[in-house]
Parts: sequence; C-alpha cells; structure tokens
Amino acid sequence: MKKYSALKGTQDILPPDIHIWQKVEKVAKDVFTAYGFQELRAPIIESTDIFIRSIGETTDIVEKEMYTFSDKAGRSITLRPEGTAPIVRCYVENHLYNLPSPQKFFYSGPMFRHERPQAGRFRQFFQIGAEAFGIGEPKIDAEILSMLKLFFERLGLKGLNFQVNSIGCEKCRPDYRNALVNFFSDRINGLCPDCKRRFEYNPLRILDCKVDACIKLREGTPRVTDFLCSECSEHFNKLLSLLNLLNVPYVINPDMVRGLDYYTRTTFEITSKQLGAQNAVAAGGRYDRLVEDFGGPPTPAIGFAIGMERITALVKSSCKETIPVPEVFIATIGESAEKEGLVIADKLRNKGIWVEIGYAGNSLKSQLRKADRLSAHYVLIIGDDEIAAGKLKWKRLSDGTRGEIPFNEVYNFFN
Ligand code: HAM
Repeated sequence: MKKYSALKGTQDILPPDIHIWQKVEKVAKDVFTAYGFQELRAPIIESTDIFIRSIGETTDIVEKEMYTFSDKAGRSITLRPEGTAPIVRCYVENHLYNLPSPQKFFYSGPMFRHERPQAGRFRQFFQIGAEAFGIGEPKIDAEILSMLKLFFERLGLKGLNFQVNSIGCEKCRPDYRNALVNFFSDRINGLCPDCKRRFEYNPLRILDCKVDACIKLREGTPRVTDFLCSECSEHFNKLLSLLNLLNVPYVINPDMVRGLDYYTRTTFEITSKQLGAQNAVAAGGRYDRLVEDFGGPPTPAIGFAIGMERITALVKSSCKETIPVPEVFIATIGESAEKEGLVIADKLRNKGIWVEIGYAGNSLKSQLRKADRLSAHYVLIIGDDEIAAGKLKWKRLSDGTRGEIPFNEVYNFFN
C-alpha cells in the first residue's frame, strides 16, 4: 500500500502541542484587543500581482518563493506568502479609509513560501499579524512595539531582542541608493548572480542576500541611518524617546533593511538567541506608500507579523504548559449502569465539563486503568448496586479520596 506523508516543509500540529498554539492565539487576541485591534479574515489566495506590486519584483519572496498557479480561467493566483498585501487590498477595496482613523486589524493563518526547509523555516507556516492604518506619527509605532512587549511578557518569554531601524522615505531613499551603487560598483564582480541583477534594479536588496560571498562584500556598507532626511530623522528620534518612556528595551540595528520592498521609515525585528539561524520571532514596520499604491488615498500604516512555529517553540521550551485532562471518567458495570452513565455524562458535558466514559464490554479494572492513563481528576463508578442504592461512588485520583453521592446531586458536585 502506498504510504502518504505531509509535503516537505509542512507539518501536522497535534495535541499536546496544539494547546500551546491555542494559548499563544488567546494571549494575542486578548492583548491586541486591549489595544483596539479587531480581527479581520482575508482569503488565502489572491491575484498574483498584488504581491509583486507590494513585496517587490526583485525580492527573494517574489523571485523564488511564491506558490503561483493558473486557475481554470487562466488567471494567475498566488497562495499568500504574507498577510500585509491582502489586508491592504481589503482595506482599499472595502473603502475602510472612510472610517475614523486609525483602523486597526489583526489576522492569523497559514502563509506559504517555497523556501529551503530547516529548523524554524517551513513552506507552510503560520503568522499572527496586526496592521494599523491612518496614523503617521511615531506614537503608534511605539504603541505597537509596546503591545508586542506585553504579548511576549504574557507568554512568559524573556531575553528577546527588539531591533529597530529607520530605512527612510521616497525623499531620502535615492541618496542612499546612490551611495550603495557607488559602494558596490567596484565589488560587483564578486557578487552572486542575483545580486548582480539587484545592483541594477534594487541595490537595497543586496543587503539581505544570504550568500556568503555577498555577506563578506557587504562589510563597511554605507548605513541607511546616515542618509535620513530631517523628517525621517525626527520621526525615528521621537520613536526612540517614546520607547524609552514606555520601557520598551531596544537596540538600533542600522543594517536591518527587511526582505520586503514596501517598507518606509520604521522597521523592526524581534529575535531570540534560543532559536539558531532562524531567530526572528516577529518583524514588521511602516509602509506609508502602500495604500496609495493599491489605489487608496495617501494613508500611513504600520504592522508586524509573529511567526507561530518559532514562538510556540520558545513557549514550549521556556514554560511548563499544563496539558488539559478530563475532569471526570465514568466507569460503569452492566447495561442499566451504562445507560445511566451516558445520561450523566451528557448532562455534565452540557455544563462544559470534560467527561470520558468506558466503552463496550470493558471490565471495571480496564476502565479504571484508562481513567488513570488519561489522568482524569475524578472517576465515577456506577453498577447495579449503586443504582439500587440511588448513590454512585466517586474517587479523586490525585489523592485517592473517595465517597458516595446521590445521583441527583452529581451535577452540583462538579462546578
Ligand atoms: P516577515 O519578516 O517576512 O514579515 O515574516 C514575519 C515573521 O514570520 C518572521 O519574523 C518569522 O517569525 C515568520 N516567518 C517568515 N517566514 C517563515 C518561514 N518560512 N517559516 C517559519 N516562519 C516564518 C512579514 O511577513 C510582513 N508581512 C510583516 C509585516 C506586517 N510588516 C508590516 N506588517
């Protein structure tokens, strides 16, 4: 028989790990809601051009990593490699810019990039992201970083490194581009074929090439922060002072340019030393031009995305998560007891209590063994004698305490 397996770079998320995923999702929802972000769900497939237009034609994602196919009508469709472009498309298409600013959204779900799989890097991976539209002032940049700090604190994660940078705007970018072209013009022969092309079309992208030779040739590259115009410089300095005010620890990383073209001004990455090569657990930045590029009115915006596989790996290794177990196991002997047990189970489940029961012909001993294996908190035992006496037996497995209760009181016994 042919054996099937999950595709390379994809994975099944099973219990007990799923409990960590659910916890991270809940903490994100609670924290983001306190900052006024509402959930938005956009499709997983989009027209390919929205990603080319936003992420950029000469980025690794667009050049090499997108899952793109033609649908039956010959349209080019792409499985979303990230969440920002779809949210911006949705924001513009639904005229959400007509609503009061800021409009703040969060989203979660799978993203797809055809990368070389390795620890912490998948082809289908999950993100929780957030995007805020309509505010250009650095106050919201600081709020977002402070929100991320709270999110990590709530998950009990320590030792994360907040790296921030500013990559300027359309006003200061040309000067920086020229400085890069000057810098790389006598190094061009040593660059990889992709970077030779990037040199022509988008020299900034040479800065996030992962080829060793290019990394070496980058030593001494001009820094974007030395080319910021006065407005971008002021924006960045204000952000830094607000981060101090809010006690968000950060380091400035002037080499961080991010791998997507839509960014302007603030960019940031949050990394962990515990994660090896793929160490970014969350990343984001401003994209003040993108709404306009998608046909909307000029609308500044900022957002980020958290990598779920990486964050759950950190939560798993840093705190002992308690795995949920059944509250009650109902063991029965005989046909009438089995029916009685089923009714009690139904009523307790109706109260939201997790109840497990024994099945067809299992001896009392094997049912009790099963309750033990499941680590149920309580076992209820019902047989003909208990039915005749109108009382069932209970036992608390943690300390062996036992007793009897009338059938009609069992529902109040568990709250
Ligand atoms: P990104 O840096 O491409 O940004 O991805 C954000 C996070 O997703 C990364 O820091 C990492 O934790 C996770 N991630 C990315 N690729 C993979 C992968 N192949 N396997 C596992 N995890 C991965 C964005 O996606 C932007 N849309 C973030 C943003 C939102 N910027 C503004 N708004």
